[in-house]
Amino acid sequence: MRLPDWSPIRALQPAALPQLFADDPRRVEALSVDIAGIHFDWSKTHLTAEAIAAFSILAQSMGLAARRDALFAGEAVNVTEGRAAEHGAERGEGSPESVARAQAYHARMRALIDAIEAEAFGPVRHILHIGIGGSALGPDLLVDALGRDADRYDVAVVSNVDGVALEEAMDRFDPQATLIAVASKTFTTTETMLNAESALEWMQAAGVEDPYGRVVALTAAPDKAVEWGVDETRVLPFAESVGGRYSLWSSIGFPAALALGWDAFEELLEGAAEMDRHFRLTELSSNAPALAAFADLYYSQARGCETRATFAYDERLRLLPSYLQQLEMESNGKRVTAEGQPVEWPTAPITWGGVGTDAQHAVFQLLHQGTRLVPLEFVGVIEAGDALADDHHRQLLINMFAQGAALMAGRDAADKARAYPGDRPSATLLLDRLDPRTLGALLAFYENRTFVNAVLLGINPFDQFGVELGKEMAKAADKGGLDFDPSTTDLIRRAFGE
Ligand code: F6P
Repeated sequence: MRLPDWSPIRALQPAALPQLFADDPRRVEALSVDIAGIHFDWSKTHLTAEAIAAFSILAQSMGLAARRDALFAGEAVNVTEGRAAEHGAERGEGSPESVARAQAYHARMRALIDAIEAEAFGPVRHILHIGIGGSALGPDLLVDALGRDADRYDVAVVSNVDGVALEEAMDRFDPQATLIAVASKTFTTTETMLNAESALEWMQAAGVEDPYGRVVALTAAPDKAVEWGVDETRVLPFAESVGGRYSLWSSIGFPAALALGWDAFEELLEGAAEMDRHFRLTELSSNAPALAAFADLYYSQARGCETRATFAYDERLRLLPSYLQQLEMESNGKRVTAEGQPVEWPTAPITWGGVGTDAQHAVFQLLHQGTRLVPLEFVGVIEAGDALADDHHRQLLINMFAQGAALMAGRDAADKARAYPGDRPSATLLLDRLDPRTLGALLAFYENRTFVNAVLLGINPFDQFGVELGKEMAKAADKGGLDFDPSTTDLIRRAFGE
């Protein structure tokens, strides 16, 4: 069993950030990577050549290269569940058999999309996508980021079991022109099944002749979908080995493929594949997912940082922080090694974030002057998403750049309430433009970075047993079959009079 030795990382003593720049005129170049239309800049982090060398040794001792090969070869890297993690195969990077299977599933999805476009289901204007977690966050992000100007279909993604969420979508949509996409890897998730049933009732009440005939199922459990009532021809399967939070590339991406068009969906996959190839084939010192993970681990293991924040300086990426929360925290929020031994080092920090410039007027006070060190990541796009005069986009990006500079430089003042400590790190990701290819590459970058973090932490990023206990207790409570603690019993009595 391999365990990470953090002592060389904890022994690193990089100078303050302004000093690192003063010491090395080539720092920006040395710590930047350009790939797939994205410029990555880690120069405003404390990564140094020495740190990268130390992390490369750690990566070697943890078998990163072999683990990466095993991931893309479709080996059972998800050891606790005894299966592979084949999201790479969805974009063509995997074993030939798995890639062929993914392509066959994609062809099936495309054929159904063609049929919808040809009005085989009558006129469809609205897509009610029902799913939760990985079955919602990815497609929601894709449609929100890339589909703002698309007028092909109006998509609503409903995840919460709170009926307010579903009602909001139903109020907006014409049931006669709506197609329901039920997205669930397992096809058993309580929230999703209840929302789906209520949506069917809504259609029925509106006089839709065959509501089940207007349902498409996106799932790795096709039999369950058929059993529930979806005709086999409208079940779009994907492989069991594609994890929920890694599934937007599979049929779970259906609403995006429909709303943006098939060509756009293919470009998304191609962008992701380009990032995968970069990750697989590039040496660690200029490998974007690896460098990002090295910075993450430096701050969590050597500086005791308990959180990391991503700020998207682009309204179109406003859902990115919540997508990342699931990807990173559900993957790496673990307390045992892949072999089941307790870990004695911090695992994933808390991922949080927001949208710039809004966040500057809400949470940046703490980031500049608070007592906690929060490594930041800024994500911006060079090409504007709006058609207003240049001022808006220029202001947006200038603000992002200025925040990174201010956090790093700091400023002293006689009045300490007005002083800024500086030396606060940030990484910057600058996209040429927000298009399917670049977004695909960005999301694959995050997936691969999460994987590198997991390998170096010695944990399995592909299971999520931590979500089960609460689910089980909710089910038991619903049936009234559990003796809860006095506080919970009192709350249940107050809410339901039981
Ligand atoms: O509860 C966690 C989880 O299992 C996630 O991992 C998953 O993305 C989500 O629930 C939804 O699961 P499903 O796609 O099976 O409905």
